[in-house]
Amino acid sequence: MIFILFVITGVLLVVYLKQKYFTLHGYVPGLAPQFLFGNLLQSGFFNGNSPPMILSTFQKRFGDVFQFWFGPSRFIVINNITDVEHVLTHRNIYDQGDIFIEKFSINYSQSLISTKGLSQIASLWPFLCKIISLGIQFKRHSSIVSPLFRRSKVISHFDLIIGCTDKLLTKWRKTEAKTIHVDIVSQCHNLVLAIFGFIAFDYDLETLDDGDNELTLALRTIINSIMTILALPRILAKAYVTLSYRQRQARNTIERYIYRMIEHEQATAQGKHTSLIASLVHSLRMNEHLEATEDIDEDKRGLSRNEVVDEMVAFLIAGFESTSSTLVWFIHLVSKHAQVQQKIKAELIAQDCLYHLSSDRLDSLVYLNCVINEVLRFIPPATGTIRTLTRDDCLPATNVQLVRGDSVLIPFHSLAHDPRYWSVDPNLFYPERFLGEDQNHHPYALIPFGGGHRQCIGQDLARFELKVIVGRLMQKVTFDDAGPEVNAGGHSMGLAILPKHIGVSIEFD
Ligand code: HEM
Repeated sequence: MIFILFVITGVLLVVYLKQKYFTLHGYVPGLAPQFLFGNLLQSGFFNGNSPPMILSTFQKRFGDVFQFWFGPSRFIVINNITDVEHVLTHRNIYDQGDIFIEKFSINYSQSLISTKGLSQIASLWPFLCKIISLGIQFKRHSSIVSPLFRRSKVISHFDLIIGCTDKLLTKWRKTEAKTIHVDIVSQCHNLVLAIFGFIAFDYDLETLDDGDNELTLALRTIINSIMTILALPRILAKAYVTLSYRQRQARNTIERYIYRMIEHEQATAQGKHTSLIASLVHSLRMNEHLEATEDIDEDKRGLSRNEVVDEMVAFLIAGFESTSSTLVWFIHLVSKHAQVQQKIKAELIAQDCLYHLSSDRLDSLVYLNCVINEVLRFIPPATGTIRTLTRDDCLPATNVQLVRGDSVLIPFHSLAHDPRYWSVDPNLFYPERFLGEDQNHHPYALIPFGGGHRQCIGQDLARFELKVIVGRLMQKVTFDDAGPEVNAGGHSMGLAILPKHIGVSIEFD
């Protein structure tokens, strides 16, 4: 009897799961998903087809709006630019994607990225929102975190970015002339991680010294596990995070370091909060002081210690590989386009920046801006962003009816390569487009940092960091293409999209 009940429950569970997670819903076209794998097997994801390629193949087959199943997660992919603009400008209907909340809340539940906005509801029913404390949490985190990324803060990191880049240049200088560097991905990772260590923690992660210290190892463990967590169903991802010794060890190490830094910051109280952690600690200190003395509203509270840890790790996850990937693609693409490097160098000379780069002079490097924009357009590091509907809605251009709870995916690469939105062939790497024919491109055709109320909070920092590193590199070296065998490009998928094959030689000017 028990056995029969067990079998019936099992069958019902499979039917329920198949119906809920692996059956094509609604009228939106797409491929019927397979049990457990969704569209991943059918689209060749496991054979190395990258998400941008897969999404553009689906677009050709199914049109501007289609369903795509990333394992058990169903997304409605939107390629029409008017629809994209509608999604990103209606924050009351399209809120943070549920997948971010689901996956980030497993381990880093108290960071900005894993909170919902729901500002509209907050303004209509503040009492209800207080009870469920949804929009409030986003507002609170956002008001504490946003000032850390203001321009005045960002430009204060100029010298340390130059210092780290010079360290990498010194290493390159020691290699034999004509050495073919096939480890550019890890070299750029090390550079960006070193910079992150100083900007975020005011701490030397020593990644440019050929040795990983304890904190660096822990941070690398977290970075390497993110893709696994995103791809697994939530229950398995949670089990992985809870049961994996390495994961727990990494989390403990990071917590230990951050708590030590908090103690140090509180003890020294220098008053100039340049690193991210120092600024967060300031909010913590204000909070602890205030909360001890009076009853303050939820949205005015500072961060707790756990929130500081979660926020710092979330910055790392969101900001590290995306910035590093852009740098890697820059090196790969300019190694294939010698004339672009020549033009950057000519601009450095014309603007008197060949020997004296400074944060003020950076603004005058207009062509360099175009090159960075073109790298971000040619290969946006993130596949796209996701929003989940808080109520039913109809897309204005394609008239597709969506329902509350649907998740929409906006594919950055498809928009940036859609000939409808670009005057010059979008498959050409051509920075000059931003000075001429494509100067007034549709703003939503190029959104590597997302858009609307949940757009990337670190974009000014990322752009500044990239401009300083690239400017410094171009002052000193030229990247040469080491030939089609080692420098073939292709896509390899981590948290960000990276070239599969990159090989360049580095010539000092
Ligand atoms: C080239 C580098 C970067 C790229 C391409 C990038 C891209 C993105 C994208 C596409 C999003 C989602 C936006 C949306 O949903 O509309 C995002 C969110 C975010 N990014 Fe970045 N990012 C970069 C660098 C950084 C850096 C350096 C940091 C901080 C240190 C950072 C912190 C964040 C945070 C905290 C969020 C979540 C914002 C929210 O949920 O409201 N990012 N980023």
